[in-house]
Amino acid sequence: MSTVKIGLLGFGTVGGGAVDILQTTLPEIERRLGHSIEIVAVAVRDLNRPRNVKLNGITLTDDPMSVVTHPDVEIVVELMGGTTLAKTLLETAIKAGKHVVTANKALIAEHGNGLFALAQQHNVMVQYEAAVAGGVPIIKALREGLAANKIEWLAGIINGTGNYILTEMKKPGADFAKVLNVAQELGYAEADPTFDVEGIDAAHKLTILASIAFGIELQFNKVYTEGISKISANDIRFAQQMGYEIKHLGLASRTSDGFALRVHPAMVPKSVLLAQVDGVMNAVMVHGSHVGSTMYYGPGAGAGPTASAVVADLIDVIRARHQPIVDRVPALGFNTLQSASVVSIEATNSAFYVRCTVLDHSGALAKITSVFADFDISIEHVHQEPSTDNADQAWLAVTTDVVSEAKFNQALASLQSLADISGDVMRIRIASVH
Ligand code: NAP
Ligand code: HSE
Repeated sequence: MSTVKIGLLGFGTVGGGAVDILQTTLPEIERRLGHSIEIVAVAVRDLNRPRNVKLNGITLTDDPMSVVTHPDVEIVVELMGGTTLAKTLLETAIKAGKHVVTANKALIAEHGNGLFALAQQHNVMVQYEAAVAGGVPIIKALREGLAANKIEWLAGIINGTGNYILTEMKKPGADFAKVLNVAQELGYAEADPTFDVEGIDAAHKLTILASIAFGIELQFNKVYTEGISKISANDIRFAQQMGYEIKHLGLASRTSDGFALRVHPAMVPKSVLLAQVDGVMNAVMVHGSHVGSTMYYGPGAGAGPTASAVVADLIDVIRARHQPIVDRVPALGFNTLQSASVVSIEATNSAFYVRCTVLDHSGALAKITSVFADFDISIEHVHQEPSTDNADQAWLAVTTDVVSEAKFNQALASLQSLADISGDVMRIRIASVH
């Protein structure tokens, strides 16, 4: 197995997340890729700053150019932010024939046109999935998955910090400044958090999404931009009373006169899926000419989700660079498949809903609940109502706590044998998908 050597610019929230993934998940990544990845050097601003993630012998330097020009570094991963030094570093990398992965939406939105042209000239890749919507692979979905469509419009919650603040402000007594402070501590906010609250970060992301959706040049300075700083707790409360949630949206659409690109707070009816996207979650709805409306949802900021997108880009670059075209993305996503055992349904665990018809006489409910007790299954809810089919019967619905399927089946058989139950006992597993 060959090893691809990479250099990291930045070891903060996202850089730390990327190092963590490459250390803890490397065997799985190697199995996908058929190659290994080695971090040769990591650049930071302050060598003495305490770090949460261990480097395990990786060289730390405060000279980012030395990482870019390091002779062994084949891919430069830029996770430091800013549009001045980062631009110079990436231009240098590209001119040296090195591929680039970045999470820097400001850099792509403001200087992407030039960077992509330079990369084309030097036959290298610039990948930037982490720049929009954190861990949600929206760029891949737009660029590849929806490639058969003419994209009509897209609408998204694309700033995790802003959405986190708007969600927290629904709680009585929440204070804007304190909530923003928590978002910063959680690693969601930009180095300058006014980028988040004044909509600049979302405008960077909308610029990128619109260019990919419509095939137009990046035009950050044309995006209408309004942030959330003027939204009060009263606005949020009044909106809710009127059946809306206030969400900070990025909207891009075609009009007869050109493209409408805008970022601003909007009242979204509560029944609309976007209204239900809370906290640091992001979601982007994309309407394609043939597919119709689709939606992509997931964590929009923070170390793990953002680094997940960074490392996925890294894997893409290595595949494109080192794998033959026919084998670039293995059919099942892994270069090496494991033989694996698959467990039976009896070995799985679920909470259950049970519905049955019971004889409406005293003691029936006690017998039923004692069956659950006999199998040490805890009951969460009980609902009973008279049957409208038969005056001597009642409908009973029960939900349980999580239990193994095998144990539940034994309880079910026992329930089914009770003389107090008429007909079949119906069960539905309660999904636990968060
Ligand atoms: P961060 O925590 O502030 O980390 C920035 C890192 O870059 C730090 O390690 C810092 O060094 C280093 N750095 C900054 N200036 C430098 C310089 N002149 N020379 C050498 N190193 C330098 O920022 P982050 O949140 O990880 O964000 C990094 C990038 O990812 C930004 O472009 C951001 O917009 C983007 N992004 C962030 C998120 C997120 O959720 N945080 C999500 C998507 C995209 P020190 O550690 O010594 O200060
Ligand atoms: N500050 C950004 C946000 C980070 O809160 O969405 C993710 O791009």
